[in-house]
Amino acid sequence: MTMAPVIPVLVVKDVAHARPVAEALVDGGLPVLEVTLRTDAALDVIREMSRVEGAFVGAGTVLNETQLDEAIDAGAKFIVSPGLTTPLAEAAIARGIPFLPGIATAADIMRGMDLGLDRFKFFPAETSGGIKALKALAAPFYKARFCPTGGITVDTASDWLAVDAVTCVGGSWLVPAGEIDPAGIHARARAASALRA
Ligand code: 3PG
Repeated sequence: MTMAPVIPVLVVKDVAHARPVAEALVDGGLPVLEVTLRTDAALDVIREMSRVEGAFVGAGTVLNETQLDEAIDAGAKFIVSPGLTTPLAEAAIARGIPFLPGIATAADIMRGMDLGLDRFKFFPAETSGGIKALKALAAPFYKARFCPTGGITVDTASDWLAVDAVTCVGGSWLVPAGEIDPAGIHARARAASALRA
């Protein structure tokens, strides 16, 4: 969470896109790459992106222990989940891999703290009440730090990063769906990497 202000959330359908996308992001200053397990190619994409020098590649949309192990086998260095379930959290902790689960309520955070976690993805950030909601939610949990994700854009990222409890933000805006445009990805990554928490 401290390696870069923005974690690109990636939905890559074609493994041929993995290397050019990862290179453009890393060259642009965003080394931390979250490859979501939402496509058939995702595990191969993790393998391929992990070969790019300077890339720190993890898996997102990890929903259960089977996917956790598949992602680790493919080389994922961290795991992101949209929610916090005890079986997945315990398995990730047992594997010793950095784990960022999604939370949207105080009870979610308390369940995470019972498991020994204090870093969370605030998800879906904008529709869960936005910055106002996160500030209110973070207040009692003063040791917790957050990576808000969901609905954040290039225009709103710096407002989120200005919140004390926010260490980084996640977002899919760096790599829009459709045609791969390395120059555009590079430019968006450059702009995002200049943002500061
Ligand atoms: C996620 O998986 O974290 C979200 O789908 C990313 O949200 P965004 O597409 O609104 O950035």
